[in-house]
Amino acid sequence: MTVALIDRYRDRLPVSDSTPIVSLGEGSTPLLHAPRLGRELGVDLWLKWEASNPTGSYKDRGMTVAISKALEGRARAVVCASTGNTSASAAAYAARAGLPAIVLVAEGAAGGKLVQARALGARVLAVRGSFDQALAAARQLGEREGYVLVNSLNPNRVEGQKTAVFEIVEGLGGTPDAFVLPYGGGGNTTAYRKALDELSLSAPVYSVEAADRPRTLASAIRIEHPAHGERVAASGARVHAVSDKEIVTAWRELAREEGMFCEPASATGLAFLRGSDELRGARVVVTVTGHGLKDPAAADTHAPAPVVVDADPAAIAEAAG
Ligand code: F0G
Repeated sequence: MTVALIDRYRDRLPVSDSTPIVSLGEGSTPLLHAPRLGRELGVDLWLKWEASNPTGSYKDRGMTVAISKALEGRARAVVCASTGNTSASAAAYAARAGLPAIVLVAEGAAGGKLVQARALGARVLAVRGSFDQALAAARQLGEREGYVLVNSLNPNRVEGQKTAVFEIVEGLGGTPDAFVLPYGGGGNTTAYRKALDELSLSAPVYSVEAADRPRTLASAIRIEHPAHGERVAASGARVHAVSDKEIVTAWRELAREEGMFCEPASATGLAFLRGSDELRGARVVVTVTGHGLKDPAAADTHAPAPVVVDADPAAIAEAAG
């Protein structure tokens, strides 16, 4: 039987026997060795494939805890602002819990995620303005009686997300020399640091942001002012920036060389490794955060278009090269 993430790490999460568990079978994601790509980059490379979570991103780790706690606390509705993945995850877990979800998405959020939240029955409101403005509105709504904010400013989200580090350390049978992950709002960086502190481990966390935060093609991390910025700075995380061009190159490489079709934001970690010698020779875990089908428009722009052929074997063999 599928083990719910909360059951796997019950002793390290803020739950009790009376907490109703809302699960879709999140966590326990693959940790995949990538020797070919690793050789090219000069590192012992491991990829934590978080796209295999139920809604296609790592957000589900935090959402199972946040929604379970909201249900326990008799919430009337949950609310979040999102570049897309948080809303898809909130919509799914709220549906599972029988709770209404109000999701505010920034105009321009990637199509696959919007479709997900809509199909899952959330009340999807596209806010005129940036993600930062949508988040400010969600925070205010979350202060009203009966509403629970399920962005990563909700500590239960961070609690759930820290389990990725537990899985990585268990999977490797030790600590990697470095954790590398994307940096949007910084909730995940905060969660990784918390997990390492709880385990009394001091491995560095590399948090990789888009150089052009407000305009990057990596829509999931198109956030001008990270909500966890101060915590990320205080955590000692090593923050690096990569350009959109570097993100696209890494994104393509992950798909073509390792079979991992992720969304552009998820490729920032690899983009950093490609452009830096800092971790040469080290055992590195790169977290690949979300699925490529979340943002089909990005794939359509950057992947080769199909060649049209007649249904004729000779013509097909010739066109295939
Ligand atoms: N990767 C993906 C696929 C994301 O969706 C996000 C954030 C990040 C990385 C960045 O992680 O914010 O913890 O530093 N997505 C949020 C959302 C903002 O609304 O879905 P972070």
